[in-house]
Formats: sequence, structure tokens, C-alpha cells
Amino acid sequence: MTRNIIVLDTTLRDGEQVPGAKMNVYQKLEFAQQLKRLHVDIIEAGFPASSAGDFHSVQQIARTVGDSVSITALARAVKADIDAVYESIKLAQDPFIHIVLGTSNVHVEKKFNRSKDAVLQMGVDAVKYAKTLLPQVQYSTEDASRSDFEYLWRTIEAVVKAGATIINIPDTVGYAVPEEFGELIRKINERLKNLNDKVVLSVHCHNDLGLATANTLSAIKNGADKIECTINGLGERAGNTSLEEVIMALKVRENFYQCSTRVETKELIRTARLLTYLTGLDVQVNKAITGDNAFAHSSGIHQDGLLKDRNVYEIMDPRDVGAESMELVLTARSGRHAFRHAVEKLGFETGDSEQFEALFQKFLALADLKKEVYDHDLFYLVNGEREQA
Ligand code: KIV
Ligand code: ZN
Repeated sequence: MTRNIIVLDTTLRDGEQVPGAKMNVYQKLEFAQQLKRLHVDIIEAGFPASSAGDFHSVQQIARTVGDSVSITALARAVKADIDAVYESIKLAQDPFIHIVLGTSNVHVEKKFNRSKDAVLQMGVDAVKYAKTLLPQVQYSTEDASRSDFEYLWRTIEAVVKAGATIINIPDTVGYAVPEEFGELIRKINERLKNLNDKVVLSVHCHNDLGLATANTLSAIKNGADKIECTINGLGERAGNTSLEEVIMALKVRENFYQCSTRVETKELIRTARLLTYLTGLDVQVNKAITGDNAFAHSSGIHQDGLLKDRNVYEIMDPRDVGAESMELVLTARSGRHAFRHAVEKLGFETGDSEQFEALFQKFLALADLKKEVYDHDLFYLVNGEREQA
């Protein structure tokens, strides 16, 4: 029996606040439509109290895709923010309010300059108020991974008793490491199950140490039922958990995690490319799943192995994420097998062994001059050889 993991996409909230990632309302709507095709369970559409423009975008998203995707938006633990969230998402079929308030000492002392009890009370009051507006309320204990555990738990207990239905544990500054974060989630999960087993345990990780995907997977292994991610890992500083990485890890390693999601993985590349197009922010070429080279093979040994059996060097079918197929990039390191495959794929005969060898040597000479040899180079190469014959 696999466990279903609820997927919240926060590209339009935590992702979009990145410098250079700003989208207008039409762009946000286009992206939200694509998230609907991707079958994420929840879209966090924005932070409506931050500006009139953001309020309007959240409202439009709730109206346009809120019939089939759950919609949420962020509020600080203050009445005005909660009202703004409610007013902007209330037309969606399944809306919920997301409240955030810090629990680490540095947040309590430096950001709020209040006592721990006073901050906790703010959270409880905010949840109680939000519950008068909507039945579902998510509470995020900001900077949870750097919080004193007993205070963190006291906060969780109090907001659950006040009515919170989702508890979200953020690694706000990407400080956690997988074993430790997994252990934190295991402890919270154990206590939460005794307190109220209907409450959903969620995680939200950042990538400052490049560990957001690993931390999220570790949290799932230790009982988290909901994850928060962004496409391409877009987000503050080094970004958020990359949705495509976690989804494909759960799919490729299903036997290990025993978890599944509703995400339509064939839409992953299309969603990532749309985001790049809308924001103008490219991903690194070797980015897992969505980078340009994620399914490209250039070493001769690998190409030869793949042509014998794809399983030799491929752990997933590129078509499962919406990529065309594996890509063999011809370079000076490619071998005869890959070269023959590429030439024949273009519809050319490779001739007898002597003719083929001559062609291959010409290819190697060209590949030494260029970094990569493309299909149009092969046309030139093969046709040139024919003219000489
Ligand atoms: O990183 C963070 O703590 C957040 C919260 C609002 C969940 O983005
Ligand atoms: Zn965040």
C-alpha cells in the first residue's frame, strides 16, 4: 500500500519573490493553468496583504483554477493579513488560510522582541480568528529547524488545539541536514498522532546547503504527508525544494519510499520551460530533471552502453517527464556505435566497413575542432563524402 503525499506548489508565492522573477497577473494565470495540468494538489498563489497587485493575482487564480485545485495564500499572524487571504481565495472550491509565525529564539527575540508566551499567544489568536472564516488553516512554525524543540512542540500543541488543520515545518534558512531533519519530523509526527491524528504534517525546505530535496525526502520517510516545493527550485537565495526532483525520486524509488503523488510527471518539463520563459530565469544545464543536459549522454562508453540497453545508464525514461527521448550528444569522445546510430537515424547508409571507417575518421577530425557535432554537421559530412566518392 503506497501512501499519498500531498503536493503544494509555492512557485507563485515563495518562488516569485526572488529578484528578477516577478510575473504580471496574466503570466501568473498562465502558470497557474499549467500547475493545474501538472495535477499539483494545492497552489499557494501569493501573499495578498503585500500589495494590491498581489491581492488581485491571488483572486484571479482562485477564480480561474480554484474549481479543481485547492488554493491557499500566505498571511502573517495578524488580522489584516488573514482578512486579505480570505477575501482573495474565498471563491475557490477548497481554499485554506496559511499563517506563518517564527518559533526560533532569533525570531522571537530579535524579530518580534516579545516573550515566547506572547508570540505563542499571537499564533493561537491568529488561528482562532482564521477558523471563523474557513475550516482549513495551515500554521507554519517559521525557522522550525533552528527552534528549541520544547517551545516548537508547545506552539504546535497550542495551535492544533486552537483549530489548525495542517502543521507545516519549515527549514526556512536551509540549515537542516537530512538525518537531523528526518528525526525532527519523526518526533513531531509521533506526538501529533497522539494529539490529533487528523492534522496533516507538512514540510517546507530551502536549499542553502543544497539539501532541500534530501531533507524533504527524509521528512517523507519519517512521516510527513505534505510537501511544499517550487518548479526548478525557484526561491529565495539558493531556492526551495525542487518539485520535479522530489516527485521523480518518489516515482523512480517507489519501492523504497512506498509513496505516490497525483502529479502528472509528463507535464514536468513543459512546466519548467514555461516558468523559464515567463521569468527569464534559466536553470543550470546539468540541473536534475529539467536542465538541458538532464537526459543527454556524451561519453562514448555511455553512448555505447545505452544503445545496447537503455537501463545501462538511464534510471528513468525521459518521456516520463515530458522530454522527447534520451539525447546522444556527439563529441570527440563518442564511439563508432553512437556515430553509426546518429547517421542512420538521419536516414543515411553508412556503407561497407571501409567507407564507414573513413566517415568516422572525418567525424573525429571535425569533432576535435568543434565541441559538439550536430545533425546538420552530419549531413555535411555524409554528403561531402558522397561527392568525393
Ligand atoms: O521559508 C519559510 O519559512 C516560508 C514560510 C512562509 C513557510 O516560506
Ligand atoms: Zn520559504
